[in-house]
Amino acid sequence: MRGCLRFKGSRQSVASVLLEELSHEMNNALSSLQFNLNFLDHATRELMAQPDAVGLSGDARARMTELTDAVTDSIGAARHVQGVLARTRSKEHGRDLRARFTPLDLRVMAETTARMAVPDATSAVRMVVDVPAELPEVSSDPTAVSQILLNLLLNSVQSLDSHKPGNLVRVEAVAAPGYVLVRVSDSGCGIQSADLERVFEARFTTKPGSGNGLGLAVSRDLARQLGGDLSVESEPGKGSTFTLHLPL
Ligand SMILES: Nc1ncnc2c1ncn2[C@@H]1O[C@H](COP(=O)(O)OP(=O)(O)O)[C@@H](O)[C@H]1O
Ligand SMILES: [Mg+2]
Repeated sequence: MRGCLRFKGSRQSVASVLLEELSHEMNNALSSLQFNLNFLDHATRELMAQPDAVGLSGDARARMTELTDAVTDSIGAARHVQGVLARTRSKEHGRDLRARFTPLDLRVMAETTARMAVPDATSAVRMVVDVPAELPEVSSDPTAVSQILLNLLLNSVQSLDSHKPGNLVRVEAVAAPGYVLVRVSDSGCGIQSADLERVFEARFTTKPGSGNGLGLAVSRDLARQLGGDLSVESEPGKGSTFTLHLPL
């Protein structure tokens, strides 16, 4: 049959065999990466716990703190990829996202994905995370939510003009009837009104060469699978706000 090939006695599409192979290889690489990152995490924390015994000066201690933070962020990034791969595999097997629902720590997720989007603390982008502690508890699929947040945050960062001062990206969460709303806003280029709904179409991109136009299509699809939605408001030249609705 065209577009299909025999694989371990079953018929799978070429795309699904490639996906399985890619996922397998990435998991192998991730295991080694995670092993080494955990070792680094353990070793740096051990050194930090006894700075005098190992002769760490004040400067070296400050550098070690940065190193520990970088390792923590890298562990978060590796976990994110692992989660996305696991979700892709369970989708292959027709499992519902709801089976993976757990209570979310939205503040930690927002901070982790914000650091993934802007890893350089000296960057000209001011990243503000405003997630109050007293939000109602939301249960959802943490990997799917962080995948959506990362897509939104990266788009916001990419919408900024690095030559302009005052570049701002903000992620905030607020309670609304039946939902928690997570808003990602920026002071970037904005979106023309004619493109406002098109941005959610698969393959729609205004970044030739660098974008594939899948981020928002996948994100809206995920948001809807979670029982919520993803919407946008924007003012060309001033900035955009994307709102993720997560049901309570
Ligand atoms: N925060 C934003 N500010 C301005 N334009 C945006 C923003 N987010 C998305 N867009 C527009 O939507 C398009 C589609 O986004 P996306 O699906 O993530 O694909 P990609 O980033 O690969 O282009 C982008 O090319 C851009 O034109
Ligand atoms: Mg994108």
